[in-house]
Amino acid sequence: MPNNPSVSIPNFIYGTAWKEERTPALVKLALRAGFRGVDTANQRRHYFEGGVGQGLDAAYRDGIVTRSDLFLQTKFTYRPGQDHRLPYDSTASLSIQVAQSMASSLEHLGTDYVDSYVLHGPASNYGWSDADIEVWEAMKKERDAGRARLLGVSNVSLRHLEQMEGARSELPAFVQNRCYARQGWDRDVRSFCRERGIIYQGFSLLTANLESLHHDYIATLAMQAEATPAQIVFAFARAIGMLPLTGTSSEQHMKQDLASSALELPPDAVRMIEQLAG
Ligand SMILES: NC(=O)c1ccc[n+]([C@@H]2O[C@H](COP(=O)([O-])OP(=O)(O)OC[C@H]3O[C@@H](n4cnc5c(N)ncnc54)[C@H](OP(=O)(O)O)[C@@H]3O)[C@@H](O)[C@H]2O)c1
Repeated sequence: MPNNPSVSIPNFIYGTAWKEERTPALVKLALRAGFRGVDTANQRRHYFEGGVGQGLDAAYRDGIVTRSDLFLQTKFTYRPGQDHRLPYDSTASLSIQVAQSMASSLEHLGTDYVDSYVLHGPASNYGWSDADIEVWEAMKKERDAGRARLLGVSNVSLRHLEQMEGARSELPAFVQNRCYARQGWDRDVRSFCRERGIIYQGFSLLTANLESLHHDYIATLAMQAEATPAQIVFAFARAIGMLPLTGTSSEQHMKQDLASSALELPPDAVRMIEQLAG
């Protein structure tokens, strides 16, 4: 991971997927609530990146934050993950698509750099392919030109990461994955990341793990800590070294999610939750 002292990594990231026309207002609300990390993607099918930029602009104008207070993260998404609203010329090479997607992201977000640029998902579920190698090289060029501070990969398996490493590719600074409790909260990928100083970003911590969220053990911990089960899950995520994302649309949940940073779980509770479902 490149040493980049100018990037300050927040302890929670606000996710902007599926918010459509509510995106600007929710981004501003999240910043007002105290979030300093914002995740988006140049993938109009699930994200309104231009709306994120509008929310940021409104927050700057109201003096809530400045650009340098923020950790902005966006993604490059391959053609199959997009609908017809493409941020690049799909007949161009993948390297050009990355450059075009980045230029469009910077315009949407009203900035000249992002703190983190993430490959939304590898081209194939089976392994790190030649397409991924080309895209990763193009992303490194964006980083080296100063348009991204750090790079990440998303929706990856242990195999993808091992193949990247085996090919002596530069490893990402971030891995962003959907985190399933039934897979020991993505135990294998988390352990690969931990051993190499890669920051693991976990999403769908609540929605992918409803059984754990409603488990009696979590309910008891929540009662003892005068917290909510969701706060226990986020406190657990942080205790095992994860950087969590939340996509809440509720101001109350924004505040609760951020307040979970102050919750400290006893080590035996952390071990117990880790084994709750897998
Ligand atoms: N890389 C990828 O492929 C990928 C895929 C999916 C998501 N993401 C990123 O991750 C972000 C978050 O997505 P997500 O799947 O984790 O979340 P999400 O789908 O946006 O949903 C979070 C859910 O948890 C609820 N919630 C949040 N805080 C709560 C609390 N304190 N108490 C009770 N309920 C609470 C929310 O309900 P309320 O709204 O009612 O609070 C919502 O239903 C996305 O916006 C996106 O940025 C990335």
